[in-house]
Amino acid sequence: MASTVLVGTQWGDEGKGKICDLIAPGFDAVVRYQGGNNAGHTIVVNGKKYGLRQIPSGIMYPSCVSIIGNGCVVNPAVVLEEIDMLEADGISTANLKISGNAHIIMPYHIALDGAFEERLGDYLIGTTKRGIGPCYQHKMERIGLRMQDLLDEELFREKLDRALTKANAELELIYGKPTFSADEIAAEYLAYGERLRPYITETGMLLNGLIDEGKSLLFEGAQATLLDIDHGTYPFVTSSNCTAGGAVTGSGVGMKNIDRVLGIMKAYITRVGSGPMPTELDFDTDEDGHTLCEVGAEYGVVTGRRRRCGWFDGPIANYAARVNGLTDIALTKLDVLSSFKTIKICVAYDCDGVRYTSVPEHQRAFEHAVPVYEEVPGWECDITGCRTFDELPQAAKDYVARIEEIARTRVSFVAVGPEREQTIVRSWKPAR
Ligand code: GDP
Ligand code: IMO
Ligand code: MG
Repeated sequence: MASTVLVGTQWGDEGKGKICDLIAPGFDAVVRYQGGNNAGHTIVVNGKKYGLRQIPSGIMYPSCVSIIGNGCVVNPAVVLEEIDMLEADGISTANLKISGNAHIIMPYHIALDGAFEERLGDYLIGTTKRGIGPCYQHKMERIGLRMQDLLDEELFREKLDRALTKANAELELIYGKPTFSADEIAAEYLAYGERLRPYITETGMLLNGLIDEGKSLLFEGAQATLLDIDHGTYPFVTSSNCTAGGAVTGSGVGMKNIDRVLGIMKAYITRVGSGPMPTELDFDTDEDGHTLCEVGAEYGVVTGRRRRCGWFDGPIANYAARVNGLTDIALTKLDVLSSFKTIKICVAYDCDGVRYTSVPEHQRAFEHAVPVYEEVPGWECDITGCRTFDELPQAAKDYVARIEEIARTRVSFVAVGPEREQTIVRSWKPAR
């Protein structure tokens, strides 16, 4: 059966949660494969808004198994908060499973994240300060603690002592920050473990069992292509592989089982945190930038930070199509462009005398990228009620066609509002 990876194609917040929630009923399981509670995925059902951070967006459907895979990092307190919030709203979490191999975000990871950012001063990355980077750092250093360790007090204490000796030394000697007590952490985290015991399991085995039964899986990426540790705008990135390849390592499922890669692409572009952004329009001095931000309600789900906004970036779309091997695109927030008389599309960059139609791999070239724009007519009417492609005004159809041309990938969904049903499905067959 067909399994699909859903992936962010820009700098995050493209509407992954919304599209994941829309197509999840066509799948038997939804799997998060990287990232942690740095993600904020919004789902709007019957006017009610849910901001999911770690729990997969398939949770709204009781028959769908929701999996937090081994490639994720998990803050147990936050996941418990999310479970309580959903259950209080009558949304069952009985089908939520958390990989025993997912790493735990510890309080010293959060402290280290903040301390390091402070030290970077003007060069700060602008992280979400949720401890993501230090947690993945400890994973690579092989001193991380994993969800399965919460269920084994002896192992937990042993590993905690080893990691904390190093973390406390760094906090105290490098950053002059308060240190942590192993006893206090153990008491708090082992209690989380007791509550999370029913959810923690061998998810790799579970997923491969589902595949053997002919079931179909949907992998829900967090963050996005340009925040990927390898393919993003390093060092202004997150610490995991957000691109489609991460779905395999982050879940324990073989590549032969995946046959579609759906890229979520905003009709313009946003970014949170530091780093170059060629098509950025200043919020304070550029009227179009101000409009994109306010009409698009571009404020972060996790941190509430205002997102930087800019015109659609074609080289990024082209690059994302290649590095993820996109088979389909979901173009979101097209309605946000409805008030513009004309709309700009960046079709290339000029970088130090060289023209690029995809993202340059060298940091300096990207930093110097000057966008080459094409200006196209806007449609200047409300499209939030459109439910078929034919209902869209011609200028909007042309805009979609131009994006297909630039990304060399078909646009299978067009989203025209935050609600589930505010989506035009053009060419997407459910997996079952
Ligand atoms: P994610 O991180 O990729 O899941 O995206 P976020 O949830 O952080 O940000 C997307 C925001 O846009 C949310 O507030 C969504 O409710 C909203 N949204 C999604 N699709 C559309 C759309 O087509 N039109 C409008 N106006 N809002 C949308
Ligand atoms: P979703 O899944 C947008 C950004 C941060 C920062 C950089 C590193 O909702 O699209 P981190 O805390 O991960 O070490 O921060 O990555 N960032 C996101 N930006 N959407 C996200 O998630 C993000 N997750 C991290 O702003 O620039
Ligand atoms: Mg988000």
